[in-house]
Amino acid sequence: MENFVAYNPTKLVFGKGVIAQLGKEVQPYGKKALVVIGKGSVKKNGILEAVYQQLTEAGVSYTLYEGIKSNPIYEDADAAIAQAKAFQADMIVAIGGGSVIDSAKAIAAGYYVNHSVWDFYLRKAPAPTKALPVFAVLTLAATGTEMNMFTVLQSDAEKAKHGYGSPLLYPKVSFLDPEYTYSVPSTYTAYGVADLIAHSLEQFFDTSNSPLSDASAAEIIRLAMKYGREVHKNPHSYEARANIMWLATAALNGSLSAGKLGGDFGVHGIEHCLSVLFDIAHGAGLSIVYPAWMRHFYSQIEGKLTFLAQRTLHPNATANDFIVELEKFFVEINTPIRLSEAGIDREQHALILDNLKQNNPKGRFFKLTEADYSSILHLMA
Ligand code: NZQ
Ligand code: ZN
Repeated sequence: MENFVAYNPTKLVFGKGVIAQLGKEVQPYGKKALVVIGKGSVKKNGILEAVYQQLTEAGVSYTLYEGIKSNPIYEDADAAIAQAKAFQADMIVAIGGGSVIDSAKAIAAGYYVNHSVWDFYLRKAPAPTKALPVFAVLTLAATGTEMNMFTVLQSDAEKAKHGYGSPLLYPKVSFLDPEYTYSVPSTYTAYGVADLIAHSLEQFFDTSNSPLSDASAAEIIRLAMKYGREVHKNPHSYEARANIMWLATAALNGSLSAGKLGGDFGVHGIEHCLSVLFDIAHGAGLSIVYPAWMRHFYSQIEGKLTFLAQRTLHPNATANDFIVELEKFFVEINTPIRLSEAGIDREQHALILDNLKQNNPKGRFFKLTEADYSSILHLMA
């Protein structure tokens, strides 16, 4: 077991109607909020109105930054920072999925500096020494950003997507109402399930010996498959939505890293190349890359795959069963398992390979070479 620090300052408020607590939670942090949203889903389903009401009742005035795209770009964060500075915001209230909350974290970090936030992600700027407080109203279960210190942005011009982390960027309070995810389309619901399974796998394939972490990762995957099937059949099942929401948070809030060295995350690195090239949804990219990655490294991970198979399927299941059944599950809930299903044909392979070489994603444990990229690409076709 490796040394570790358990630290997570985010207060999570979970359940039906929890938005009613937002006003009292934000009040101690100031009088002015920058509200950040995506392309409009929160206007249609009434969540934006509910937040406005809370802010008004708490005596907090607000300005809205609208239009964060899925797979968010740093230019939006820079523009929102200018708006936050002009408004002299005391806090950021993010309402959305990972893209909106990650952008809010970038805005929080960029508020006190005079360079583009992208410089943080490129490691060109020193780490921030202060950040605005971020409050998150989660509307899509997937990334875990609601209870972690990470943010991921991309540059379309540079064809690069990078993560950044700072303890200053844990949301102060995150509000998780499973009913807010009823309106998530079945596509993004499935991609979210794929993402949370991928987070569990990334930490599971950190080969450090941490038995509780491994058992927890396997159990999160087992439950994600169970409730993923349920929510696919019945999108308005509160129990299914609630379980998926909590599983997604638990998969990337630090608890699975205890006793480990931070996870492998090579698959995430490869997926980020797909997302910058084709604007594919993050979870859809992961459900394509992970099976291929497991087949490629099969001989090195057979024992670990057998453990997963026996915990998530049945006591006699084999390593190969795990890969096959995970693929079947992805097909069942309708997230792609091959590039061709996502409309990416063989003619694009050279482009993908070039981008992989340019961004050079590496796993922490399963180092990736150019030969690995080619083989994994072949398996993803
Ligand atoms: O933009 P709007 O109109 O709000 O629509 C969004 C968007 O089209 C829609 N949506 C969200 N909640 C909804 C809803 N539609 C109807 N009803 C609702 N309640 O869903 C679409 C996708 O939203 P997005 O935020 O992009 O999805 P997700 O939460 O999967 O976030 C993906 C981003 O998070 C990053 C990914 O790389 C990607 O950029 N990640 C962040 C991580 C982190 N910070 O820890 C870790 C992850 O591995 C991941 O890399
Ligand atoms: Zn992810």
